[in-house]
Amino acid sequence: LWVVDKITNLSTTYPHITQAAHLLRENEVVAFPTETVYGLGANACSDEAVRKIYQAKGRPSDNPLIVHIASVNKLDEIVKDIPDYAYKLINEFWPGPLTLILPKKGDRLSTLVTAGLETVGVRMPSHPIALSLIREADVPIAAPSANQSGKPSPTHASHVYHDLNGKISGIIDGGATGVGVESTVLDCSSTVPTILRPGGVTKEQLESVIGEVQLDQALIDEGLAPKSPGMKYTHYAPNAPVVLVNGRLEFLQKIINKHQKEGKKVGVLTTEENINQLQANKVIACGRRANLQTVAAELYDVLRKFDDEEVDIIFSESFPQIGVGEAIMNRLLKAAGNQVIEEY
Ligand code: TXA
Ligand code: MG
Repeated sequence: LWVVDKITNLSTTYPHITQAAHLLRENEVVAFPTETVYGLGANACSDEAVRKIYQAKGRPSDNPLIVHIASVNKLDEIVKDIPDYAYKLINEFWPGPLTLILPKKGDRLSTLVTAGLETVGVRMPSHPIALSLIREADVPIAAPSANQSGKPSPTHASHVYHDLNGKISGIIDGGATGVGVESTVLDCSSTVPTILRPGGVTKEQLESVIGEVQLDQALIDEGLAPKSPGMKYTHYAPNAPVVLVNGRLEFLQKIINKHQKEGKKVGVLTTEENINQLQANKVIACGRRANLQTVAAELYDVLRKFDDEEVDIIFSESFPQIGVGEAIMNRLLKAAGNQVIEEY
């Protein structure tokens, strides 16, 4: 495995991007930064290459992958029946953290990418390294998040190294990713566009461009099977169990005290505003409550830090489900296996 030096300035040529593009064309797998999380890329047209993604991640084969392109012109080579509203969204949000689910066209893509579905998720990332790499590889790039399946997605190259060292051909280190949560997955094969996974582009932003957008019922009602196969798996989970606490800080402190008295090593995910008001074995601030984008940006790194601390249980603050807060709470609830303590 090689890890390239941190690329901080794209104004010169990067032999490593050329090297990575070459590996992708040879059907090898390479991790690269996107503006959301690091992706594990492979040639989406090759069964051999795509199989390596599932193997490296330990990903269930019924969970389809997002195909990444570097130019809107490539879109109608792989999907068809693109509704007008999808074009409006593309104009507004591409390149960026929005994945569109559209009917698959032809048989150019490996059937492993779509896990046998008739639709395919496509996105054009905005990270300059991702764009250069896809452009140079000159093939559509299948790329899930570059974590071991079930773990929090990687927002630093070191996270990828930790999970996939020895299992992939290389990592391009572009520093911290930025948005911090994955792209919004929007089903555009239904009449009312439906969010299957909340992410970097918010419901409010989508609605400001195309009007009504709905949340997949499975995101609201736990009992239902999600339309996005990936959403049914345990996800984003650190080693210790996570419990969300919905209430005042005094209440959270009471819960912490109770568990510490029982001899547990307690971790707490809080925010910069509240960190000085809480006491536990390990208290970590995850961004600022006043700006939920900073919470999203640090979320996965903070969840991973609790693994290093070897805590027994993690209590997390809850966040308002508005804007990117929808994606933050979606990931935290998954990490917590829906365990929430409400203040009584
Ligand atoms: O931000 C992102 O989207 C990152 C970066 C690397 O681009 N990628 C990412 O990929 O998060 P992954 O594989 O970890 O998540 C893809 C999600 C899964 O929940 C999957 O089930 C869903 O998208 N998905 C992919 N194709 C689909 C399809 N045809 N229909 C429904 N859901 C689909
Ligand atoms: Mg993932």
